[in-house]
Amino acid sequence: MSSDALSNLMHEERRFPPTEEFAADAVAKADLYDDAAKDRLGFWEEQARRLDWDTPWDEALQWDPPYAKWFVGGKLNVAVNCVDRHVDAGNGDRVAFHWQGDPADDKRTITYRDLQKLVNQTANALTELGVKAGDPVAVYMPMIPETVATLLACARIGAPHTVVFAGFSADALASRIQDADARVVVTADGQFRRGEPASLKPNVDEAVDKCPDVRNVLVVRRTGGDVTWNDDRDLWWHDVVDRQSDEHEAQAFDSEHPLFILYTSGTTAKPKGILHTTGGYLTQAAYTHRNVFDLKPDTDVYWCAADIGWVTGHSYIVYGPLANGATSVMYEGVPHPGDKDRWWKLIEEHKVSILYTAPTTIRTYMKWGPEPLQQHDLSSLRVLGSVGEPINPEAWMWYREHVGGGKAPIVDTWWQTETGAIMISPLPGVTATKPGSAMRPLPGIGADVVDDQGKPVPNGGGGYLVLTEPWPAMLRGIWGDDERYKETYWSKFPDMYFAGDGAKKDDDGDLWLLGRVDDVMNVSGHRISTTEVESALVSHLKVAEAAVVGATDPTTGQGIVAFVILRGSAADEGDSTVQELRQHVAKEIGPIARPRQILVVAELPKTRSGKIMRRLLRDVAEHREVGDVTTLADSTVMNLISEGLDKGSAKDED
Ligand code: WTA
Repeated sequence: MSSDALSNLMHEERRFPPTEEFAADAVAKADLYDDAAKDRLGFWEEQARRLDWDTPWDEALQWDPPYAKWFVGGKLNVAVNCVDRHVDAGNGDRVAFHWQGDPADDKRTITYRDLQKLVNQTANALTELGVKAGDPVAVYMPMIPETVATLLACARIGAPHTVVFAGFSADALASRIQDADARVVVTADGQFRRGEPASLKPNVDEAVDKCPDVRNVLVVRRTGGDVTWNDDRDLWWHDVVDRQSDEHEAQAFDSEHPLFILYTSGTTAKPKGILHTTGGYLTQAAYTHRNVFDLKPDTDVYWCAADIGWVTGHSYIVYGPLANGATSVMYEGVPHPGDKDRWWKLIEEHKVSILYTAPTTIRTYMKWGPEPLQQHDLSSLRVLGSVGEPINPEAWMWYREHVGGGKAPIVDTWWQTETGAIMISPLPGVTATKPGSAMRPLPGIGADVVDDQGKPVPNGGGGYLVLTEPWPAMLRGIWGDDERYKETYWSKFPDMYFAGDGAKKDDDGDLWLLGRVDDVMNVSGHRISTTEVESALVSHLKVAEAAVVGATDPTTGQGIVAFVILRGSAADEGDSTVQELRQHVAKEIGPIARPRQILVVAELPKTRSGKIMRRLLRDVAEHREVGDVTTLADSTVMNLISEGLDKGSAKDED
């Protein structure tokens, strides 16, 4: 982040304390911080006791850095905690999901009792397909109720799920299936997007062709189009799941039993399989969901607008809200210019009281103007959440004013796939918030900002964000790669978790997140590694070399900008090659990784040791004066690149 931006943050004088009414009625009061500070482990045990355990734990934490075990010896079933216990408590008729499909008249209301039946049937079906405790199941599905049921059914039988975002390519799916060694894949024929059906099954077919160990593909009929069918392998959900008994006896699993693997981009081309386990994860997902969103399960209607394919969907569409017995809205579609008031209609229709979304969405609506919001009654909203990337003060204020009616508190929640649940956030009934700051670590969480030597910076200083204490929902490792786990998170500073984010402490000690300090980009709240896009580019025959940077983008936070050197004659083909390469990346990784801009260059700026100087490329991509070039092997390279830029080999798209 530029020093200008840093000093702007430091001048933020606005404060938004909760109203007295809100504070009086809030789930989380200020004493939560004191309780946690007095006895951190006792505090977490108290949170864990809100779940139903078949066998109580013997010890809250075993910490053998960098490996933690939480609630050691305890046993529980996640699906029972998320579904059955609410039915048993007499809340079977409570709505778990108001599901809204992308087509306007496509709606389903699913009570906790309905969900229980669906989960049980799905668990029985997976068992019939030979899935046992410990067997990973791959999930490549749209935002439909069957997806929630699949995750919970996996949890119910102790089979770790690995969800692959349905926007990822066949290759991305194949590599994750192989890495996790999944033998069963659950998917759908397609999904609806922007009013149109979009197929998913062909991607699965292409992926599974490369995964000979996959026995079965279970397919939900969602769009009803033609599909290619492999009789030995493919099964329709309605043939297999619908005929199952809706009773299922759940078994309790060890607190450290694997619950899921979720792949996320790191600094190399190979994504990391982040492993989460059972008891600690569910404890923190439920605790944060209840306290950060001030959840009153019998009156609130909660909507997390993320996709289940990302960790936000795992923790805050599925596990946190369901563990708390919440009523949620679940929506298949995404905001698009052809339907600017869909979201607000949904909020009005269901009287949504808690909304959780990403800054990129808020900025998109800002761009479209407040009119679509003004046509709807949004007065039911009482808490607003933000996640995925730093929220700029302008977007924060817009969110507050136009969505929250100038009164709903905003919780800017910092966390990661690796942390499993929210770590840094205001508490809505306690914290006087500042636009753009995630404020403080939650009660029970230890976080700090340190310098290069690992020393905490004083207030007013900036540095690296670290987590100083093990936390219940922390990742338990990278699937199949212990060395990478240690190297990525625990080698920079001894016994402190290195998050990969820059941060600043303001004069009051409140935290401001400044984005990634590694080669990971954040595009619309999605992590994409520069190396991943580079290797997709160089896998194209026409590309000799590629360098990718994330450049500031007014809507998506960062946009992907690629600099490529083409091979031989391809260099003369200009625009059509650029289009072809953008498409190629979309095919290799997924449309979210399609570069915003590709610049064809003759050389890349490198140090004498051959390291690409991304800092300079970022200057070019952000139209800044190019910084210090003295360490370049050939200092004229940047002139060539800038000249190329002037000649218009750049392409801004979408
Ligand atoms: C970024 C998403 C600033 C950060 C839950 C982190 C944020 C990465 C915030 C994790 C926030 C997430 N403010 N930055 N409130 N929330 N980030 O794994 O760079 O998809 O490291 O998890 O997103 O992204 P991930």
